[in-house]
Amino acid sequence: MEIRATDTPLLNWAGDGLAIGLFEDTVLTGELTELNEKFAGVLNELIAETEFKGKEGSSAAVRVGGSSPVRKVMLVGLGKPDTLKLDNWRRAAAIVARLAKKEKCKTLGISLPVWNDAPARTAQVIAEGIQLALFQDNRFKSEPEDKGPFVEQVDLLGLGSQDEAIARAGKICAGVILARELVAAPANSVTPITMAETAQAIALEHNLQVEILESEDCEKLGMGAFLGVAKASDLPPKFIHLTYKPEGTPRRKVAIVGKGLTFDSGGLNIKGAGSGIEMMKVDMGGAAATLGAAKAIAQLKPDIEVHFISAVTENMISGRAVHPGDILTASNGKTIEVNNTDAEGRLTLADALVFTEKLGLDAIVDLATLTGACIIALGDDIAGFWSTDEALADALAQSAEAAGEKLWRMPIEEKYFEGLKSPIADMKNTGPRGGGSITATLFLKQFVKETPWAHIDIAGTVWTEKENGYNNAGATGYGVRTLVNWVLGEQVS
Ligand code: BES
Ligand code: MN
Ligand code: ZN
Repeated sequence: MEIRATDTPLLNWAGDGLAIGLFEDTVLTGELTELNEKFAGVLNELIAETEFKGKEGSSAAVRVGGSSPVRKVMLVGLGKPDTLKLDNWRRAAAIVARLAKKEKCKTLGISLPVWNDAPARTAQVIAEGIQLALFQDNRFKSEPEDKGPFVEQVDLLGLGSQDEAIARAGKICAGVILARELVAAPANSVTPITMAETAQAIALEHNLQVEILESEDCEKLGMGAFLGVAKASDLPPKFIHLTYKPEGTPRRKVAIVGKGLTFDSGGLNIKGAGSGIEMMKVDMGGAAATLGAAKAIAQLKPDIEVHFISAVTENMISGRAVHPGDILTASNGKTIEVNNTDAEGRLTLADALVFTEKLGLDAIVDLATLTGACIIALGDDIAGFWSTDEALADALAQSAEAAGEKLWRMPIEEKYFEGLKSPIADMKNTGPRGGGSITATLFLKQFVKETPWAHIDIAGTVWTEKENGYNNAGATGYGVRTLVNWVLGEQVS
């Protein structure tokens, strides 16, 4: 599929489907009146027949008769102009793209108003919405269900020439789609080994430095918490470290750390029936977002050094498994009583965070499918985040807003650390049920001494059961766009 911005006036555009965005209760004026006349009144008819009011999320389509140069006209509602955010343009573009596919349009013209006098931003998010909505994962089907025809050519009308913005959208979406593919692939397809191979492939393709630490290397670094989790698996753990270095002196140095459990059985505290154990292939969603962000950032080339880190393994059961109650020693010397082997993500992250802080960076952000408690608190659409640094928290919140990824700040309530006190070791890995995502954060905080740090819990947002805006049912790729915006300092919404 090719997306381009064209100077062709709306009235002259020819192709399979022409989509027009309308605010709530707008009447046709100017160009649209002329278009309506050109199409023998079909626009007004469509509006009347479908009682189209321009409500957000609404759409309508009709065949233009005769020898018209346009086969289908589509309308998409944008809602009330004063309440609109940038993300509404992504979602409107997704509706148009899905409708165009349903109407079997190979060529599509889109005319949406300019958001906030920013045509480049508008073009970028429209291009994002189209690509994210039309992505389809056929890797595990012997025959694709959908044989087309597909949208092959999209023309963005009325935005001037926007090659750079559209290219940018393409790079970002490639990262989001990589993350979706990694998350959606089952645990017998995406393993610690293939995650390391994916990191190496990204490094090779986009010129990043890559280092994969093997089990022995991790042992030398004293990563007893990560290796404790990895012990029961028949697959070797892999500690991934990708580095993007800009050409000149970097303005800042930051790290993105992702939880990378390619499967989480719970360990000996095994997840029971009805626990959603069969979904635990998603437990590397943080690592997937990290690799997706690496792919995008390597192409966008900011003047910032970025480290992408993930301690990847499975949480399995075997005669070698950590016993509930075992004490592990992390790479900062802290001892952990593992009172629940299903709280494994924080154990892997502990060593990943200690490793990352030693790099001497300006900020660290981790993403993890860490707790069911975060899903209870915020549901599937909103990720929770905690930060030790106000400036970092503000930057992340604004980056997420601009990305259209919902993110809500949660408190670091130090008092709750009492729940992690162990009579025998420095701490337990699991506290009481209440405030479970907060104690998880307090646990992680033990492994970051002074670098400004934020933790994002994506247990809910990593996956969607139903189609949701430009996210199809399945893996969302949540986090990639926020991370890219954060690194690049893109914070308008
Ligand atoms: N990977 C899970 C969290 C999770 C739940 C991710 C649902 C995605 C969807 C994590 O390792 C886990 O098992 N957490 C436990 C922690 C508990 C034992 C303290 C949980 O949330 O129940
Ligand atoms: Mn678990
Ligand atoms: Zn887990």
